[in-house]
Amino acid sequence: MTYNKKGIEDIDVTGKKVLVRCDFNVPLEDGKITDDNRIVGALPTIKHLLSKKAKIILCSHMGRPKGEFNMKYTLEPVAGRLAELLGVKVTLAADVIGEDAKSKAAALKSGEILLLENVRFHKEEEKNDPDFSKELASLAEIYVNDAFGTAHRAHASTAGVADYLPAVCGYLIQKEIAVMGKALSDPKRPFVAILGGAKVSDKIGVINNLLEKVDTIIVGGGMAYTFEKATGGNIGKSLCELDKLDMAKDLLEKAKKNGVNFLLPIDTVCAKEFANEAEQAIYNTNDIPDDWMGLDIGPKTIKAFSDALKGAGTIVWNGPMGVFEFDNFANGTKAVAQAVAESGAISIIGGGDSAAAVEKFGFADKITHISTGGGASLEFLEGLELPGIACLNEKN
Ligand code: 3PG
Repeated sequence: MTYNKKGIEDIDVTGKKVLVRCDFNVPLEDGKITDDNRIVGALPTIKHLLSKKAKIILCSHMGRPKGEFNMKYTLEPVAGRLAELLGVKVTLAADVIGEDAKSKAAALKSGEILLLENVRFHKEEEKNDPDFSKELASLAEIYVNDAFGTAHRAHASTAGVADYLPAVCGYLIQKEIAVMGKALSDPKRPFVAILGGAKVSDKIGVINNLLEKVDTIIVGGGMAYTFEKATGGNIGKSLCELDKLDMAKDLLEKAKKNGVNFLLPIDTVCAKEFANEAEQAIYNTNDIPDDWMGLDIGPKTIKAFSDALKGAGTIVWNGPMGVFEFDNFANGTKAVAQAVAESGAISIIGGGDSAAAVEKFGFADKITHISTGGGASLEFLEGLELPGIACLNEKN
C-alpha cells in the first residue's frame, strides 16, 4: 500500500488550534512508564507545532477501558513524561469532549499544550461515532494524525475526525510509512524477513505478502511447529494450530514456486513444562518426543539463521524466536537480535515483542528503524490499507 498524503509541512499551522492524535498507549508498571518510545516518537511533530506557535491539543487512548471512565487508564503519567521531555507545561484535561476539555481548549494560547483524557473513556471512540468525531473536531481547526501504532483502527479519533477538519499526517507516521514502504517496494537485496511469535494465524497475511517480495524468509518461535507438523515432523506437545496445517503447506509451496528460501528451525530447546526453571533438552525440530515442547530455537538453528542474515541488504523482523520472557529460553531471540544488529543491513523491527527483545538485549541503537506499531506494522507489512492514514487529505 502506498500513500501520498499531506504532511504537517503541507499545511499552515501557525497560531492555529491543532488536534494531534498520538499513540501514547505505553506500558506501565505501578503507574510508572516502563518504555517511553511512543512518547519520544511523537516529539518531532509536537516540537514543530511549538515552533509554529500553534495551540496544541493532544489526544490518545491508553489500554482498553471499554468505553468507561476508569482512572486506571488515565493519561496522567503521559502528561508528566511529555512535560519532562519537552521542558514545557502539559495540562491534562479531566475529560475528552466534556466541559473541562472544551473550556481548556477554548482558553489555549499559542505555544500551549493540552492533553485530553483517554479517548477510549467513551464507547463512541471505538465505534467511530460521527457525533463524537464532530465534537472532538470542534475543539480544533486542523487535525494531525501521528498515531502510527493505532493507524490500523478506524476509530473516531484516528479516522472519523478527519471528516470534519483539514487532516494531515505527522512526522512519525511519515517516517514509519517511508521506511517500511521503501523496504516493501524497493528493498536493498538480499531482502530477508524473520517472523516469529506464538501463532501462525496472526502472521499468515504477512507471510503471504512477503513471499512476493523477499529472497529469504526465516520462521521461528511457536508458529514454526505448525510448519514442522505440516511437513510430517513430530513436534511433541509444542504449540500447533491444527486447523492451519493446510495453510502452512500452501505457504511452503508458494515459497518454492517464488524461489524464496524458507528457513525453519532445525533443532529446538525443549522442556516438559512451560516454566523458566524447567529441565531442558535439545531435539531435532522434526523429532520432539511426545511429552516435550519446543520453547526456543537450538544452536544449529541459531547458526543457520545468523548465517542467512550475514550479507542481507534489508531485514524485517516481527516476532520472537522463543519464550524470551523466560531467561533460560531467551538465547535464540537474543542471538537473532545480535545477528540483525551486526548484519549491516537496513533493519526494521515491527513493534511489540521483537521491539521489546532488541531493547532488552541492548541492540536497539544498532537497528535502523524500530516501529512504534505492533498490530499496525503487521497490517502495513501485510499490504493492508490503514484507515488512520487512508482518511487523511491527499497531496495535490
Ligand atoms: C497497540 O498497542 O498496538 C496500539 O496502541 C493499539 O492498541 P489496541 O490494540 O488496543 O487497539
